Amino acid sequence: MNDFVYRDGVLYCEELKVSDIAAKVGTPFYLYSKNTFTSHLQHVEAAFGDLAHIVCYSVKANSNVAILSMMAREGAGADVVSGGELYRALKAGMDPQKIVFAGLGKTEQEIEYGLSEGILMFNVESSQELMLVNDVAQRLGTQASIALRVNPDIDAKTHPYIATGLKQSKFGIPLSQAMAEYEVAQKLPGLNPTGVHQHIGSQILEPGPFEASLRKVTNLAKSLKVLGLDIRYINIGGGFGIQYTDEDAPEPEQFAAGIVPILKETGCTAIMEVGRMIAGNAGILVTKVLLNKQGEDKRFVVVDAAMNDLIRPSLYQANHHIGPVVYREGAAEVKVDVVGPICESGDFLAQDRAIPEVQSGELLAVFTAGAYGFTMSSNYNSRTRLPEVLVSGRRAFVIRRRETYEDLVRGEAIPKDL
Ligand code: LLP
Repeated sequence: MNDFVYRDGVLYCEELKVSDIAAKVGTPFYLYSKNTFTSHLQHVEAAFGDLAHIVCYSVKANSNVAILSMMAREGAGADVVSGGELYRALKAGMDPQKIVFAGLGKTEQEIEYGLSEGILMFNVESSQELMLVNDVAQRLGTQASIALRVNPDIDAKTHPYIATGLKQSKFGIPLSQAMAEYEVAQKLPGLNPTGVHQHIGSQILEPGPFEASLRKVTNLAKSLKVLGLDIRYINIGGGFGIQYTDEDAPEPEQFAAGIVPILKETGCTAIMEVGRMIAGNAGILVTKVLLNKQGEDKRFVVVDAAMNDLIRPSLYQANHHIGPVVYREGAAEVKVDVVGPICESGDFLAQDRAIPEVQSGELLAVFTAGAYGFTMSSNYNSRTRLPEVLVSGRRAFVIRRRETYEDLVRGEAIPKDL
């Protein structure tokens, strides 16, 4: 379900025509639907409703403070991976007791920040980090609640860049070493081990890998309880896959069906760090056609958005559906590369894609761009980053303004004595 729908060939976001918004804010821009965001969250909440759980929305997917505040008001917590994400989550009004802090290279300052704000727990990824968290906690005269992120050696069957649960991966502590690390943690006065964490990858399109992995992880949790540890949380990570083009993506309840019984047995509260499933189809990228260009073998549609705005096609060969914002009657389908103006051959939004013929000035929508779209954007080629617009019913709010040239050089300095 999402709220980007065509009515008589015209694309709407909830009750507004996308073309009307484009006329007001200019192109390119990111456009989000409030209703899609909140109903996706509610859908996940309902699917896991039988289970004591906290949805910690994964801030890296879409970190605009307006989005985070919307998630907080709907009862979600946050999964953060940096001081910056923690700052955003707190600024948006997230309850610190629903914030978990992951990442395999947290700095001392970041650990201190999390501790002083009273977050729910840190997900720790190595024995050295375990010591560091203990040291910082002791220095502050407090105790850090922690989970160890274990690496269950599971093939999540996804793109290698976003698979994280294989033993070759840099993430987590091997399952075989986890028991020993927990025993160390138990003895350290600055630590309170309360959870077990896993995250096996992203854009996972079948429940099987979650179930296989969680069987291993819940067995560990049970053994830890026998050892006398007060394990109250099992964090299953994120990674639920969604439909971009023609993928057969399971619904939240299809993922939940196999997972819930495994988790229920433990008596623990489940934490899920859901990003893409909430944000992905809640956003689009709207771009304008600059020109058509016929190469020797290929036809190019040059648009005003580029890889700096949406890097997923270049980085992961991701296929985002692309369609006209307003279908023009009689436009024939043509096979094209949709490319941006950046000086890189890797700058494309789609390759060899059949779309209706479009002319200069027409608008295209790049769908499923709500997750890992704006958050992965950059200023490469000194392009200003895009505005973000949030629609609720008949109202549209600019939740981030378009950057200016001034913004581009903010913080830079030309030394006097140069
Ligand atoms: N938890 C942890 C520890 C993670 O590393 C991630 C994502 C998530 C949760 C959220 O995963 P999700 O539910 O969104 O799949 N930039 C890539 C995705 C990288 C994901 C990194 N970690 C992309 O555009 O596909």
